[in-house]
Parts: sequence; C-alpha cells; structure tokens
Amino acid sequence: MGQWVRLAAEGEIKSAKAFEIEGKRIAVFRTPEGFRALDDVCSHEYSLLSEGEVWDGQVYCPKHGSAFDLATGAACGLPATDPVKTWNLKIEGGDVWAQLP
Ligand code: FES
Repeated sequence: MGQWVRLAAEGEIKSAKAFEIEGKRIAVFRTPEGFRALDDVCSHEYSLLSEGEVWDGQVYCPKHGSAFDLATGAACGLPATDPVKTWNLKIEGGDVWAQLP
C-alpha cells in the first residue's frame, strides 16, 4: 500500500470536507463511528459527494440522489450502479491521514 498523507487536523473536518491529493479528489466524512473517506466524484456523472447529505451511514449524491455507503463505497440506490473507491484513514497526533492507493 502507499504512503500516508496528512489531510487536516481532526477538528478541521466538521461533517464533510474535500481534499485533493496526488491529483485525486477525496471526500472525508465525520461519522459517529469515526472518519470515513470516499472518492469525492460520483461514479454516475460528475458531482461531488462531499457536497451531499449524509444520513444513516450513507451519503446522497447532490445531483441525482444515489446513496453510497460510507464504509464500503457501495452504490445503494439508482441511478448509480458502480461503487466509489474507499480510502484508508488513520488518526495520528490529532491529525487525519489518508493512505495513497
Ligand atoms: S451524478 Fe451522482 S447520482 Fe448522478
């Protein structure tokens, strides 16, 4: 697996925040179970999941409303059928880090 990249201090991520690392957009979500990260760009068309509503462990794409599981990236509702990639995160020194693929 790839190297770890610091994203932000934990406190800087309120509910959802977008980052760009190595040319890839990632969306990090604060959930009751901890931070979760997905590819920010929807698998259906171009829309940013970091701007979607989060409800019950899923984020709803702001463009057409497909839901994606924050833990697995699975598409849970049409029109999207393909998953989005998940990212490994860790907390170290009060900061959130993402692992490059
Ligand atoms: S762009 Fe996300 S569901 Fe269509």
